[in-house]
Amino acid sequence: MTSSSWDPQRYQGRHSYVWQFGESLLELLQPRPGERILDVGCGTGQLTAEIARSGAEVTGLDNSPDMLAQARKNYPQLKFVAADAAGFQVPEPFDAVFSNAALHWVKDQPAAAASIARALKPGGRFVTELGGKGCIASIISAMRDVFGAEADQRRPWTFPSIGEFAPLLEQHGLEVRQASLFDRPTPVEGEHGLEDWLRMFCSSYFRGLSPEQTRDALRALADRLRPALYRDGVWTLDYRRLRVVAVKPNR
Ligand SMILES: C[S@@+](CC[C@H](N)C(=O)[O-])C[C@H]1O[C@@H](n2cnc3c(N)ncnc32)[C@H](O)[C@@H]1O
Repeated sequence: MTSSSWDPQRYQGRHSYVWQFGESLLELLQPRPGERILDVGCGTGQLTAEIARSGAEVTGLDNSPDMLAQARKNYPQLKFVAADAAGFQVPEPFDAVFSNAALHWVKDQPAAAASIARALKPGGRFVTELGGKGCIASIISAMRDVFGAEADQRRPWTFPSIGEFAPLLEQHGLEVRQASLFDRPTPVEGEHGLEDWLRMFCSSYFRGLSPEQTRDALRALADRLRPALYRDGVWTLDYRRLRVVAVKPNR
């Protein structure tokens, strides 16, 4: 698998549905005034700011310098730190760790589970949503048609099942209190919605291609995906999400 690059302008401009869907995850988090909360994979910071509005003291963590620069520009009053979700240490443990739409981008999910568990106080909670098993199956299949054997090496995501993800948390002492895997068909804006989405989130597939090769690949992907994903002028992507709430027991 290869790593991805992030374009914060494109992300904020055309993909706000990522954090808009994440807002309902905040209902599970229920941040309270004065709590210390860590937002892992905070991106451009919109949900970090939403958590701060509750009166909690929040820190955003991300490993993309470009996304962090935009987050700091958007919310200069908030604290953001550069770190890899799969290997970070915190000076003082948190009341809660939150993460929306980020952990499926992390290659070493067992290491992320270890870091997150370590970052929690006893009694602290972890609330996350990520792409789950079967997410964008039609797009992954079209990538294999277009890029052949290389497609799976270029795939940047790991989409776990409940049975794969919950044990990673349990191995690090967390109790999994809730887990659900559900379809979330996700419309993306306009006739060019699929292409915008592919350019935003699939850069690792197109790395090293000329502009013409990229254009041809985008056209081939749209041709394959149109029958399944395009209806009445709208591209609707076959997202599937995994939501988990876990708690570090008081000992
Ligand atoms: C789709 S964005 C989601 C951002 C934000 N949570 C939201 O809901 O808008 C995914 C974010 O995860 C970050 N990310 C991916 N892999 C990471 C890693 N290994 N460590 C820290 N952040 C990571 C990316 O840089 C990106 O900002």
